[in-house]
Amino acid sequence: MENRKQRIENLKTERTPAEEVILRRRSVRLYKKEQVPDFMIKRILEAGRFAPSAGNGQPWKFVVLREPEIIDGITETTIKICKLFKSLIDYRIPGKRWRLPIAKFNIALKPAELHPVPFGACTLIADRKLGLFHGAPTVIMIFKDVRGISNPDVDCGIAGQNMALTAHSMGLGTCWISFAKLAFQYTGKWKKMLGIRYPYKFVTSLSVGWPVGNPDGMIARPTHEVDWYENGTKKVVH
Ligand SMILES: Cc1cc2nc3c(=O)[nH]c(=O)nc-3n(C[C@H](O)[C@H](O)[C@H](O)COP(=O)(O)O)c2cc1C
Repeated sequence: MENRKQRIENLKTERTPAEEVILRRRSVRLYKKEQVPDFMIKRILEAGRFAPSAGNGQPWKFVVLREPEIIDGITETTIKICKLFKSLIDYRIPGKRWRLPIAKFNIALKPAELHPVPFGACTLIADRKLGLFHGAPTVIMIFKDVRGISNPDVDCGIAGQNMALTAHSMGLGTCWISFAKLAFQYTGKWKKMLGIRYPYKFVTSLSVGWPVGNPDGMIARPTHEVDWYENGTKKVVH
């Protein structure tokens, strides 16, 4: 009991190592060429494997890419698809404003994919102004088992966050890369190359490597209101 009291006292002024990693992790978009040792990637995968999942179903498949030809190939396929999207629906190009109602219609059909933020990034990728994997020497792809009970996307997200945080705790950098989905959703080429077939489906990926500089660190985040029910009342906390 004394121990717990002391721990609570300490927590008033100190963060735990886990909190430090969570708060300081930043997306890394510039990597050194130097490859990450195998054993570190295996430890990262192990952290993913230990993630909780509904019914302990572990509805995931991880694929590690360290072949520059494959990483570049997926990048080129994604750029082609981004270019196609841009040519078909970018209403911001001078002389193409007539596309605006068509774009609005498409956005209404696929609000998540064509939200202005990913749409803007899609244009940058098409123009090669934003790299897909940001030059990382290792990419971990996460595929879900679509038969997973409850919500396999959530399980894959938890596994991915375990991996990202473990990588940062080792001094590595990561960035979630969901844009690679385009190469798996709109072509069969990379699914075939990597032997991905039913029941697996691309969810997201993580670029992993040694960061250039020191990008990790705390930044201001918007505070969201949280409703807190206790002792018969509701209060709002931040
Ligand atoms: C599911 C998911 C997908 C993401 N996809 C991409 C991506 O394709 N490319 C990219 O550069 N960043 C991507 N990000 C990174 C976000 O832009 C980033 O997490 C966000 O801006 C917050 O910044 P922080 O990670 O430094 O805290 C993704 C993040 C998540 C969680």
